[in-house]
Formats: sequence, structure tokens, C-alpha cells
Amino acid sequence: MTEPEPGGNAGGATTVVVEKLSLTLGDLPLFDGLSTVFPAGQTTCLLGPSGVGKSTLLRAMAGLIAPTNGRIVGGDGRGLAGRVAYMDQSDLLLPWLSARDNVGLGARLRGEPTDATAAHRLLALVGLRGHETKRPAALSGGMRQRVALARTLMEDRAVVLMDEPFSAVDALTRFRLQDLASTVLRGRTVVLVTHDPQEALRLGHQLFVLSGSPAQIEKSGVPDLPPPRQPTFGDFPARYQDLMDQLAVGDAGAP
Ligand SMILES: Nc1ncnc2c1ncn2[C@@H]1O[C@H](COP(=O)(O)OP(=O)(O)OP(=O)(O)O)[C@@H](O)[C@H]1O
Ligand SMILES: [Mg+2]
Repeated sequence: MTEPEPGGNAGGATTVVVEKLSLTLGDLPLFDGLSTVFPAGQTTCLLGPSGVGKSTLLRAMAGLIAPTNGRIVGGDGRGLAGRVAYMDQSDLLLPWLSARDNVGLGARLRGEPTDATAAHRLLALVGLRGHETKRPAALSGGMRQRVALARTLMEDRAVVLMDEPFSAVDALTRFRLQDLASTVLRGRTVVLVTHDPQEALRLGHQLFVLSGSPAQIEKSGVPDLPPPRQPTFGDFPARYQDLMDQLAVGDAGAP
């Protein structure tokens, strides 16, 4: 496996193109001809009411759900297989494995040797030096989220998809994890689903708001500073108000 380069470019950033995506789950048409572009090397935050289809879109991008119609490809027109790391809303750590072995799980599942040195380096990067041999039950919620983040980085993919990655932690830990993620994911194409408007405004180079059924995407403005942004700086408060207004409108028409 390639040696991970935290904060590196993972072999070149990749635009992700969603082309005329239609996707029906059960008898619910979540998307009908949705087209959008996630720019290379940037973080796009995805917001919208519960049930609108954020996780479904992310899973379709990760190749875990097949679209009914349309396609999701890189800027080169090729599929994304092998270029995507996916971090689920729950940390999905295996309780019987140590933090280090959970970080190396991807290689293990592929039948490849795990790189313990790289796993240790990434655990140190997310602030978990000395906790490598602990099992998830011996770690706090925030520590488990950091193990999951290290595992995502271990995969060293150009595209990183994260579904509410910091929802389970307290406000201060969340703030720190946001700063950390922004630093270590720099240069990758990141799509981050969140219910937290402040998190979206801190981390996103752009914000997409999903609303309606079938869902459509509307963009929302970001503060005029590079991420990670501080909530009290510049036009952050004004953008926060704009985003809250936009979410309120979207929620009224939600399923
Ligand atoms: N396997 C499935 N079969 C049928 N319907 C499903 C399935 N998975 C999800 N759904 C439905 O699809 C819709 C979108 O679900 P999804 O999980 O993508 O929403 P979400 O925007 O991520 O919501 P939340 O913010 O609550 O996480 C929901 O109405 C949900 O009930
Ligand atoms: Mg979801």
C-alpha cells in the first residue's frame, strides 16, 4: 500500500462529477436527474433536512449504492473505484481490535499486510500517541472519532467522503477535530455531510444545501476567508444568518 502522506495530495486531486443522477429507494425518488460538480482539492459541505438524501448521495459517491440512472465519475470521466475513502456517521470501529489495528483495517480486509508504522504515525497526528493498543471501549467518543479519522487518512485516497464525522463529540472536541481535519485533509476532494451550519461555514470551500423531493442542490455563500474559519471573524456571522435562512426555507418543503 502507498505510504500515507497526511495533508498531501494523494496522487493528485480529483474533481467529482455527478451526472444526471436518479436514485429511487423503495418507492421514494430521492434524486431525479441531479447534476453537480465537487471541485478538486476542495471541501464541500452538504447540508439539508433529515431524510432529504445526504447520506444516500454520499453512499452513491462511495459506490455503496448503485444509481437508478446517471453516473458519478472523476474529472477524467473514469469511475471513482479505488480513489474514495468513506467515513460513516457511526465510527464503525471493530470492538475487538486495538486502535492501531482499526486504523489498518482497510488493508486487512483486502488481505494486504498492514503498515503498523504508518498507523502509529497517523494516530500520533490525530493526538492519540500512547493509545495505539487500546480497544474502542477504552476510548472516549472523541478519541474513537479520531481513530476513525486516522483510518480514513490511512486509506490515502484523493476523495474523502465524511458523513457527520464529528456529530458524537462535545463542542470543544468538535472544534478541535474540525481544525485537525481541515489541516490533514488539505488538497483532497472532501465532501462532508453535517447538520451543523457553523461546522459547514468553518470547513467548506463551498456549501451545498439539499432540499425537496426529489432533492435539488442550491449553493450557499461562504465567509471570505480560507478554512478553517473562526466563527467571530469577518463576514462569518452574516453568512451564518444567510445559511440559517436558506435552511429554514428548505426545511419547509422537506419530505
Ligand atoms: N435502504 C433504504 N430503503 C428505503 N428507503 C431508504 C433506505 N435508506 C434510506 N431510505 C430513505 O431515504 C431517505 C433519505 O435517507 P438519507 O439517510 O439519505 O437521509 P439524510 O439526508 O442522510 O438524513 P439524516 O440527516 O437524518 O441523516 C429517507 O427518507 C430514508 O427513510
Ligand atoms: Mg444521513
